[in-house]
Amino acid sequence: MKFDVTVIGSGPGGYVAAIRCAQLGLKTAIIEKYATLGGTCLNVGCIPSKALLDSSEHYHNATHTFEKHGIDVKEVKVNMKQMIKRKNEVVSQTSGGIDFLMKKNKITVFHGHGSFVNKNTISIAKADGTTETVETDKTIIATGSKPIAPAAFNYDKKRVITSTEALNIDKVPKRMVVIGAGVIGLELGSVYARLGTEVEVVEFMDRAIAGMDKDCSKELTRSLKKLGIKFHLGHAVTEVKGTSRSVTVKAKSKKNDKEIILKADYCLIAIGRYAYTDKLGLENVGINTDKKGRIEVGKHLETSVPGIYAVGDVIKGAMLAHKAEEEGTLVAEVIAGQQPHIDYNLIPGVVYTWPEVAAVGKTEEQLKEAGVPYKVGKFPMRALGRARASMDTDGMVKMLAHKDTDEILGVHMVGPRVADMIAEAVAVMEFRGSAEDVARMSHAHPTYTEATREAALAATGNRAIHM
Ligand code: FAD
Ligand code: NAI
Repeated sequence: MKFDVTVIGSGPGGYVAAIRCAQLGLKTAIIEKYATLGGTCLNVGCIPSKALLDSSEHYHNATHTFEKHGIDVKEVKVNMKQMIKRKNEVVSQTSGGIDFLMKKNKITVFHGHGSFVNKNTISIAKADGTTETVETDKTIIATGSKPIAPAAFNYDKKRVITSTEALNIDKVPKRMVVIGAGVIGLELGSVYARLGTEVEVVEFMDRAIAGMDKDCSKELTRSLKKLGIKFHLGHAVTEVKGTSRSVTVKAKSKKNDKEIILKADYCLIAIGRYAYTDKLGLENVGINTDKKGRIEVGKHLETSVPGIYAVGDVIKGAMLAHKAEEEGTLVAEVIAGQQPHIDYNLIPGVVYTWPEVAAVGKTEEQLKEAGVPYKVGKFPMRALGRARASMDTDGMVKMLAHKDTDEILGVHMVGPRVADMIAEAVAVMEFRGSAEDVARMSHAHPTYTEATREAALAATGNRAIHM
């Protein structure tokens, strides 16, 4: 079997690359080691976590806000088995959709572990013990990432878990310790806090979502504390021990070395993910990796071996599905002789808590550090009629624009549905628009998007109308 392009890995980086290659007339194959397509994102990441976030949000509203809305419901109960079942249905429908897209685009799918024999030969070890080999002109590596679980944390998949197991707990835990106040820790921590679990988050840095704008971090932490999540910031976890029924987590304060000991039913490790290249045979072709084990890529995401490219979580950059998709598309178009381009500054980041957090461009801290002159416009959600109508008044929109040119440099949002709202900021920034441009665009009333316009008005000289 000979292909123009073979893609290893069927996550959003891999399957999108394969579809784009096929669209461009290349004979394409994709290799996936698991039985289902879609990678981390579809099977144990974006989609199942959002399914549980939605279900738990419904429960939280039924128990916390319905009464205020004038809806009396008696005996609202969580049926965890059904919640997980629905989540699994969403996953299998979505993964089935990728099967359909592979057929539609005439992409040959192989299930098995792919590894390089040489630059143009990939062997596929199948679940039944047999091996198949494909010949390929070009290869795109899209093997993704796995959760980091240090030895001292005694990851046992039962009581000491990562996001993968946290998506399949069949009884609401009484207590959960989450290590890491990053995206996974706060999203999955929210799921369980909404369902009634006492959640305690231990974070090494002095604030949650430390990579995002400080104001977002503050707003979100305040909302999550209201939800009942306890934070131990500035603490490094040193040891986790699980028994068959419980876990003990030890952490030390960075300030004074004081130790805290937490006990819970589960400990969720959410301290980042590492690039996955296990048994990929990189040594057989001489592909370089960096200190973090990520595949090194140069111009057009080509590895140190000409004709072999890498995309998504397995290379440097944000570990996001839409970043992987952009890269998959870029490589396919490069192989087909086109001249594509990615502006990494304009890849938005979202945290699907409630309120949600969404951001694009530079944070205020980054602008300060780079010495870029900027102005700030902020507008709180609670000043919006739409937010009061839905009782979702937590959050704000913050716009950062260049002091002299008014070009928008960063937009940071906390609030209801800001994951969808951030698209406006991306679009305007893609066209290098100014705060004045957004201030002069009509935004439907009443919508949450009015906060973006008001923040733009605030940035262009304190002209916000409703504040
Ligand atoms: P992956 O999706 O990891 O896919 C890699 C695939 O390659 C896997 O299927 C793997 O089995 C396969 N593979 C590996 N090695 C081989 C081999 N040798 N042979 C054959 N197959 C192989 N991102 C967002 O943008 N939004 C979100 O809301 C979001 N939520 C997330 C929630 C959770 C709980 C997690 C864990 C992640 C989330 N992410 C989210 C991150 C997102 O899932 C990843 O950034 C994305 O999946 C990366 O895509 P990828 O194609 O690079 O790799
Ligand atoms: P993360 O990098 O977002 O957060 C990890 C946190 O753990 C950091 O704040 C870090 O300071 C902390 N930490 C590390 N070691 C620690 C220790 N020993 N003790 C205490 N705290 C410690 O990583 P996370 O949440 O695991 O997510 C992994 C990746 O998955 C992210 O890069 C993210 O991009 C992606 N993802 C994206 C989502 C989205 O787009 N909505 C949702 C979920 C995951």
